[in-house]
Amino acid sequence: MTQQAGDSGVGTGRLAGKAGIVTGAASRVGAGIAHRLVADGARLCLADMDAARGAAMAAELGDAAFFMQTDLQIDGSIQQCVREAVDQFGGLDLLVNGACTYRDGGIAAERADWLVACNINLVGAALTIRAAAPEMAARGGGSIVNIASIAGKVAMAGRWLYPSTKAALLQLTRCAATDLAADRIRVNSVSPGWTWSHLMEDLSGGDRAVIDGLAADYHLQGRTSTSEEVAAVVAFLCSDDAACVTGADYAADGGYSALGPERALPAMRDQLVAAGRIAE
Ligand SMILES: NC(=O)c1ccc[n+]([C@@H]2O[C@H](COP(=O)([O-])OP(=O)(O)OC[C@H]3O[C@@H](n4cnc5c(N)ncnc54)[C@H](O)[C@@H]3O)[C@@H](O)[C@H]2O)c1
Repeated sequence: MTQQAGDSGVGTGRLAGKAGIVTGAASRVGAGIAHRLVADGARLCLADMDAARGAAMAAELGDAAFFMQTDLQIDGSIQQCVREAVDQFGGLDLLVNGACTYRDGGIAAERADWLVACNINLVGAALTIRAAAPEMAARGGGSIVNIASIAGKVAMAGRWLYPSTKAALLQLTRCAATDLAADRIRVNSVSPGWTWSHLMEDLSGGDRAVIDGLAADYHLQGRTSTSEEVAAVVAFLCSDDAACVTGADYAADGGYSALGPERALPAMRDQLVAAGRIAE
């Protein structure tokens, strides 16, 4: 832990008085979520394996957040994270499961690859919910948001692990919502489309237009989303504004999932014209 929350971190927005954990908080998406939840008044434990980025995030957020280096592959690390958050805040109201690995390899992936992908993306989220839920129940309820993906709903060439774990996370969301409803804990997921990330920044040399150009054909909005835009949906689900929403998945994907198979239509039309089957 590099920084501790102080009493002065209490906010005044719609999440005022709420305390939460955001896993994967060192990622760009996680950072966006953390900034938004703090802006809405929450105090946060930022949980991630990446100590350098995590500590930097906590420093940005000041007294409203502290960083806890956490490895979701280790039960004791998850439990220590939840314990520390409860010690710091006196309880827990919110959990955002945002950590992930993109480790894949498709058909070539070995068992070890599968186990790591499932361990972080699915089991890590499930065991964090398991550790956090009793603390939320003790507060009279809470809200859990799992960060899923468009990849959990459609197939992607060459990728088996990441999409499969995200599909399982969508089902975990429904299962957990079912079992935790009696404790007034809502469990939902947000499925982003392409969202500007550290990886995209590295691949494009920081040129957002390059990635937006690639995204344009697959997203109605013709661009990648920002982490702030995804975070706004997460903040809604965390808040009492979503009091009747549980077991649901919210697409924060710029219209990716609305396109359906007809996204291939222009290419198909070109082929039919070229084959002389239809007029130009
Ligand atoms: N960027 C996108 O286009 C996109 C699209 C759909 C969904 N998402 C989802 O958004 C979230 C963030 O995505 P991103 O692209 O910013 O990813 P990223 O790879 O930049 O971040 C993942 C974070 O998880 C952390 N992490 C990995 N293994 C961990 C472990 N064992 N314990 C604790 N932390 C661990 C990493 O340190 C990192 O900070 C993920 O859940 C991802 O699936 C992203």
